[in-house]
Amino acid sequence: MRFFIALNLLIVSVICKNILLTNDDGFAATNIRAAYRELKKAGHNVLLVAPVSQRSGWAGKFDIPPTKDLTTDGEFDYITKGSPSWGHEANDLNIWYFNGTPASCVAFGLKYVIPEFLNKSSSKNSSFDKVDLVVSGPNEGTNLSPGYFTISGTIGAAVAATYRGIPAIAFSGSNGNNSFFKDSLNEDSNEPSNIYAKKVTEFVNGLFEQQGSADRALPVGTGLNVNFPPVGSQAESCTDPKWVFSRIAGAKSFGPDVKYDEKSGMVEETDSVFNALNVCYNGDCSLPSEASILDNKSSCQASVSPFSVDFGANLHLTGQIKYALSKVL
Ligand SMILES: *[C@@H]1O[C@H](CO)[C@@H](O)[C@H](O)[C@H]1NC(C)=O
Ligand SMILES: *[C@@H]1O[C@H](CO)[C@@H](O)[C@H](O)[C@H]1NC(C)=O
Repeated sequence: MRFFIALNLLIVSVICKNILLTNDDGFAATNIRAAYRELKKAGHNVLLVAPVSQRSGWAGKFDIPPTKDLTTDGEFDYITKGSPSWGHEANDLNIWYFNGTPASCVAFGLKYVIPEFLNKSSSKNSSFDKVDLVVSGPNEGTNLSPGYFTISGTIGAAVAATYRGIPAIAFSGSNGNNSFFKDSLNEDSNEPSNIYAKKVTEFVNGLFEQQGSADRALPVGTGLNVNFPPVGSQAESCTDPKWVFSRIAGAKSFGPDVKYDEKSGMVEETDSVFNALNVCYNGDCSLPSEASILDNKSSCQASVSPFSVDFGANLHLTGQIKYALSKVL
């Protein structure tokens, strides 16, 4: 009996997949470096390709470097003005920066880094023959509700991967610090970036375990949006958030808004809850919204919402809309 248990553990522990890791906070952010470390520790081949500068809120924008060299310093001045517009860590061919957006980093990884460096018969690491999963994040800050689905660069990268036919997951943390890995990456088990990295690895491994020998981990054109609550040093009682299946729209869903301040004569950005986001046209309407899960600060739950790239209105709505257009088409 013991022998079989041991054998079973062995089989589980050798799942080794090819993961393309990106984010919108930059390739030198603490969260992504912690995730890189943990995914590798679990045995995966990980290629990190992420923006050289902070690209939060750039959604699916697709920027490519306008010049061969950088005309401004990268984030944290880690890569400086005058350096090439893309490159890798001197000691690691699997960690790349690119002067682009999260979405274009995915494409750059797939169309340049992998074919030129990681998928050549001459290369030592020719195992990158297929990307099994794109992981985006963990973002510094949550990305909840349809309002932020269309804004988040973290989600933008996941969507870009999904419409390329690659299963993708956007992970977002509740730790908003824009921190530099050289200052903040450590082994402190209470540090949110480390807890999130371990949870990302647990999640990804569970997905691959269930995939088994199947060709792909998620159906074509689908992905997941995952949000973590405050953990560890941010919320001592929460060190191992529970996964909760959710949906992107629904109760408490919100989006960015403006507020006019008469005193200063300026407009400020704020979040507003919009009733139109509390509709359910697609998916399982009995699931809680991701906004309502993360709204409960003490629940220690992480929301897991499925999405698809078929953004069109469903059949019933399409009929109603067609009727509304009767005089036009
Ligand atoms: C790796 O190379 C093989 C053979 O050239 C090709 O079929 C495959 O699509 C490549 N994979 C990636 C992820 O670029
Ligand atoms: C994040 O910011 C808080 C408050 O400014 C600080 O206490 C904490 O050390 C920072 N964490 C990291 C990882 O930089």
